[in-house]
Amino acid sequence: MKITIVANGPILIDTEAEWTWEGEGEPIRKKDRVALCRCGASAIKPFCDGAHRKIGFQAPGGTVELTPR
Ligand code: FES
Repeated sequence: MKITIVANGPILIDTEAEWTWEGEGEPIRKKDRVALCRCGASAIKPFCDGAHRKIGFQAPGGTVELTPR
């Protein structure tokens, strides 16, 4: 699994696992890459919908690599 904090954008989680998001409404299932909003402007939270570009969100990026023990 790899977590990428995109400069001025979302948190990308790359994994081969299948995700199930259980919030309000129907569960959402995702595979492979998930983009999570960190700007607060997405209409589909917790996922990114690209709204960070419209609002001019600015924050530094980085990468976290996770390896199994
Ligand atoms: S980070 Fe993309 S919409 Fe918030």
